[in-house]
Amino acid sequence: MFDVDIDRTVVPALKVHPMVVGTDGADRFAAGVADMDFKPPQAVLDAMAQRLAHGVFGYEAVPADLFPSLIDWFNDRHNWKISDEHIVRSPNVLNTLSMALNAFTKKGEGVIVQPPVFFDFYDTLNENDRRVVKNNLKLINGRYEIDFDDLAARAADPKTTMMFLCNPHNPIGRVWSADDLRRIGEICLAHNVLVVSDEIHCDITYANAPYTPFALLGNELADNAIICLSPAKSFNIASCCSAFAIVSNEGIRKRLQAENSRLTVNKNNAFASVAMNAAFRSGGPWLDSLLVHFQENIELVRARFETMKAVSFIEPEGTFLLWLDFRKLKLKQTDLVKFLREDARWAITNGGSFGPEGEGFMRLNIACTRSKLNAGLDKLEQALEKRSN
Ligand SMILES: Cc1ncc(COP(=O)(O)O)c(C=O)c1O
Repeated sequence: MFDVDIDRTVVPALKVHPMVVGTDGADRFAAGVADMDFKPPQAVLDAMAQRLAHGVFGYEAVPADLFPSLIDWFNDRHNWKISDEHIVRSPNVLNTLSMALNAFTKKGEGVIVQPPVFFDFYDTLNENDRRVVKNNLKLINGRYEIDFDDLAARAADPKTTMMFLCNPHNPIGRVWSADDLRRIGEICLAHNVLVVSDEIHCDITYANAPYTPFALLGNELADNAIICLSPAKSFNIASCCSAFAIVSNEGIRKRLQAENSRLTVNKNNAFASVAMNAAFRSGGPWLDSLLVHFQENIELVRARFETMKAVSFIEPEGTFLLWLDFRKLKLKQTDLVKFLREDARWAITNGGSFGPEGEGFMRLNIACTRSKLNAGLDKLEQALEKRSN
């Protein structure tokens, strides 16, 4: 199922776009942008085809069976009983983050993030004139951990009013434990810091690292949170733009809905609704097979890196993103990026874009066929060999 290479250049796919791989980049191993090279489950394609065949695309309400599909998915998969009145729709997760910023913080106020972290968090904060407050993750024996003392100190500043949490965490692949999340939640609650928890990667976790929805930490902590979700990563439907937030606190929900309405981003896209509905209703077995494929790809990278020696990766607990450690090469970040782009012909994501804390690292997306991954690894191996000679 995940062994067919589909030519993505026939649509303006960002992952393979000259903007990302370079104008001379057609031969580069395109494994940066965080989507997959696969079609979504057949049920999603069928539902979209059926909707297309209907042929009328006027204004629509939320389909009556959409929220039940979503609720069943999170209940069956994550043991989380979502109440339908807690659901707030939005076009995408980053949009939910911006709306939360505008509804609950003021210009100049601080928002806590945990670098190295998803670069768009910084852009969203900078573009909205909010201050980035860093609670750096600590790399201890090959595993990233939260510095809770530092978090408490940052949260204590009255001018810091929100935290962007990333669980599972892009790019380092941690799936935070219930205990970690509770400690974060308690610190934020104690200091009036609203938690905006981006859980877009929640369905993609591996053995021994189950995803804990922030909303399941008890009412008090859940009521101080906005949970951002989307089927985009799990089912590769990011361009369908279909996300939602779960907000149990009525006051917070109303303010977020008001912001949603003020910006008029509360329209319903027929294809987004149909894709999301079919994915949640019928996508489970497909996702299970996908997770096996990811684990096999991770094992492939592990085996190939054993012979390469100069590179390793941080063991991922979730996401289809591998955080590659190139520190043994002792290259400046610009030289590392150049080596990968020019010598290895790799177009992957610069670790430095996740903050200077990511220097020495690069992010590899493994959501591709095994043959594409292997071909990319061949090129890396050759480039490393050439370099060491
Ligand atoms: C942690 C995280 N949040 C949000 C997004 C983007 O989500 P959306 O396309 O729904 O804005 C991504 C995409 O890579 C992501 O990794």
